[in-house]
Amino acid sequence: MAKAKDILTLIEADHRKVEELFEELEKSKSSKKTYDCLTQIYKELNLHAKAEELVFYPAMREYDETAEFIEEAEEEHEEAEVLLEEIKTMSPSDDQFKTKIEQLKKAVQHHVEEEESEIFEAVRECMEDDELKSLGKEFQDAKAKLEGEVVAAIK
Ligand SMILES: [Fe+2]
Ligand SMILES: [Fe+2]
Repeated sequence: MAKAKDILTLIEADHRKVEELFEELEKSKSSKKTYDCLTQIYKELNLHAKAEELVFYPAMREYDETAEFIEEAEEEHEEAEVLLEEIKTMSPSDDQFKTKIEQLKKAVQHHVEEEESEIFEAVRECMEDDELKSLGKEFQDAKAKLEGEVVAAIK
């Protein structure tokens, strides 16, 4: 049996993947490449945020020390989601395109930093390894289930 990964490791891996995609997007020299990177970012960010909202944040609600972070985190997801939908309707030649991407990248960076510092720290104090591993399984299952829906929303 494959070794179960804890949810924090999975979340970190998703964060690194999205950071790489932003870097690729910035380096892109063709509109095809830009479009591909954006499609990936749209998919990865939406899947990640939805799975966190379904699995990670509800688990955080169980402890006072972690529950206090949920409201702000959900607002930040909402902010990124709105920007993603706006960017989806734009063409890379639009005046606002670069500004919006920059705005999205900054918002995501800020949110990721908060999750990986104070949120993870509080989670590690409240949850045992077993719980983090079973949440990891749920997180992966949620992403697998949501994939079709998120991919369909790209078009
Ligand atoms: Fe998040
Ligand atoms: Fe996250």
